[in-house]
Amino acid sequence: MGLVTCAEILASAEAGGYAVGAFNCNNMEIVQAIIRAAEAERSPVIIQASQGAIKYAGMGYIVALIREAAASASVPVAMHLDHGTDFQQVMLCIRNGFTSVMIDGSHHPLSENIDITKRVVEVAHAVGVSVEGELGRIRGVEDEVRVSEREAFFTDPEEARIFVRETGVDALAPSIGTAHGRYRGKPELDFDRLAQIRKLTGVPLVLHGSSGVPGEDIRRAISLGVRKVNIDTDIREAFVAEVRRRLEADPSEIDPRRILGPAREKACQVIREKIRLFGSAGKA
Ligand code: 13P
Repeated sequence: MGLVTCAEILASAEAGGYAVGAFNCNNMEIVQAIIRAAEAERSPVIIQASQGAIKYAGMGYIVALIREAAASASVPVAMHLDHGTDFQQVMLCIRNGFTSVMIDGSHHPLSENIDITKRVVEVAHAVGVSVEGELGRIRGVEDEVRVSEREAFFTDPEEARIFVRETGVDALAPSIGTAHGRYRGKPELDFDRLAQIRKLTGVPLVLHGSSGVPGEDIRRAISLGVRKVNIDTDIREAFVAEVRRRLEADPSEIDPRRILGPAREKACQVIREKIRLFGSAGKA
């Protein structure tokens, strides 16, 4: 059915009270795993590429892969840039057909974050592309953060209200205790803060760093207004674990299809479980 924007997908999620998975891809097999899972679950889906993924695969390849996935599928698909860091990168993605972009100005002070995000929204909305902003710092698990410093990274709800009002973003990624990558302990989410941010902004919220977050916490976050759930690490782990298993099972195997094919299948299974958890199964 071709590509749609994240804003469209999130509007339906808002009306239905569920969330849609935004799954990161780097290569053909992962794109196929995502689209097969979405089709099998009859779910809308967001396929997202980071700047690192675009650099690895090449802009032309990644766009062609996601476009083909959308064209061959009967569920709504959005092509989203994950963590765009600067204006030029975001414009390049819009020019190449992304239907949704994230501008991550969270490392800037509030006023600069508002400025750059606002500039992106102006251009993106003019050409029908939706925008996700980030406020507060969402860490990587590799960042060493002392417990006493933890909340300094969190999003201030009042700042979130101002940020959303000033920029006009379609969705907001707040920092409430999740981190990108594999958690060392159990993540502690600040649900009160999440509820407050939602109340003051009214926009669909995005949960980053969702791999490894217990299902009950994900469900609770969705009940409080999270509409887009980002998953990367859980897919990578399932994919690579199967590659490793196949190689160990038969070290003489030289057919990549016999190694990557089963890995694609494992990734697909993980994505299907996530889709069911987020409540978007059967919504397409
Ligand atoms: P995980 O790798 O923790 O799933 O995070 C993905 C993400 O938030 C991408 O922006």
